Amino acid sequence: MMTATMKPVSRVLRLGCVLAFCFQVLAPYGLPRAWGLDNGLAMTPTMGWLHWERFMCNVNCQEEPDSCISEKLFLQIAEIMASDGWKDVGYEYICIDDCWMAPERDSKGRLQADPKRFPGGIHRLADYVHSKGLKLGIYADVGNKTCAGFPGSFGYYDIDAQTFADWGVDLLKFDGCYCDSIQHLAEGYKQMSLALNRTGRSIVYSCEWPLYVWPIFKPNYTEIREYCNHWRNFADIYDSWESIRKTLDWTSSNQKIIVPVAGPGGWNDPDMLVIGNFGLSRDQQITQMALWAIMAAPLLMSNDLRHISPEAKALLQDKDVIAINQDRLGKQGYWLRKISSLQFLAPKLSPFGLDPGNTVFLWYNESTQEPGRIPRQHHQQRGKD
Ligand SMILES: *[C@@H]1O[C@H](CO)[C@@H](O)[C@H](O)[C@H]1NC(C)=O
Ligand SMILES: *[C@@H]1O[C@H](CO)[C@@H](O)[C@H](O)[C@H]1NC(C)=O
Ligand SMILES: *[C@@H]1O[C@H](CO)[C@@H](O)[C@H](O)[C@H]1NC(C)=O
Repeated sequence: MMTATMKPVSRVLRLGCVLAFCFQVLAPYGLPRAWGLDNGLAMTPTMGWLHWERFMCNVNCQEEPDSCISEKLFLQIAEIMASDGWKDVGYEYICIDDCWMAPERDSKGRLQADPKRFPGGIHRLADYVHSKGLKLGIYADVGNKTCAGFPGSFGYYDIDAQTFADWGVDLLKFDGCYCDSIQHLAEGYKQMSLALNRTGRSIVYSCEWPLYVWPIFKPNYTEIREYCNHWRNFADIYDSWESIRKTLDWTSSNQKIIVPVAGPGGWNDPDMLVIGNFGLSRDQQITQMALWAIMAAPLLMSNDLRHISPEAKALLQDKDVIAINQDRLGKQGYWLRKISSLQFLAPKLSPFGLDPGNTVFLWYNESTQEPGRIPRQHHQQRGKD
């Protein structure tokens, strides 16, 4: 049985520190239920690129013209996404994060891009991105200011949704800074969702709603799923294994709450892939890719596609690993066992849409972070379960 269903994950196996295998499960699986935000989008986890982790809020185009948040950056990344195989394997959304705005709204109360850094404006940028067969994402905030202090959308949800639609934007990442109450937060996330819907344009809605609710109470994920296509639960990722480990620890500790709610149209978002940057070893990069795939996470890279190693590129473009992430049943993997003394984690992936009844197991050894250290009998034993 293992050999018959091994093919889709064979690359995961070859990747090294991850050992994965399939076997037939007894329970038959039905088709995904239609529940959640009814905009027909994100039926599989969103794939693309997001500027934040790598480029942050660099607005200094004088001294750093190649890495400041400007239209030049997005034009260049879009060009590479289209020409260097990224689009072909599924990376479709090129997403702007915070710090694209001018410090003030225009005379009609609309958000506007910083005129020096985005002289062509967002509409033209969107046209260019679309001409490459890609989609454009943008960023705004539910409160009075964005996290970096630019104009927030509170009181402007309809105007902002319409502005984004008019520009041809395809995804909105909606942050939750500068919001004075949990009521404003919840109402704001809902109102923006409805406002986007009223524009009539298909716009993926990426929320940070639960992230800001957790410190106060357990979020109602049923409700969040009704309004958002994906949602951040935990702190921002940065370019280090420590950060990824914390995210994984949080995810495994809270999996009973968050895993059941994921599925076509609505996903838990553990934040960006930082593969191709500086902070992760080769094995750690492989591990992030494998885990994000098995967690049915949005695959939003934050790196510099103009300067990326062939190894990182091959890893991010690994079609077999991407196929696990894009499995159309969309069941998020979960930790079966965490033996802290041995430091093994074992998440479980859904059956593949095309081959129902398969389950992928993934083991990784956190203590060594190296390939092939798990004795063979371990995974054979699990295979008989
Ligand atoms: C808006 O919502 C309605 C009903 O929930 C849905 O049928 C429609 O496709 C949505 N439109 C957009 C543009 O998301
Ligand atoms: C925004 O600021 C106004 C004026 O200070 C305040 O009344 C309102 O509650 C704030 N909104 C949020 C979401 O923080
Ligand atoms: C969560 O939200 C759903 C949908 O809005 C609602 O039906 C349910 O009662 C809420 N659950 C709790 C515990 O508030």
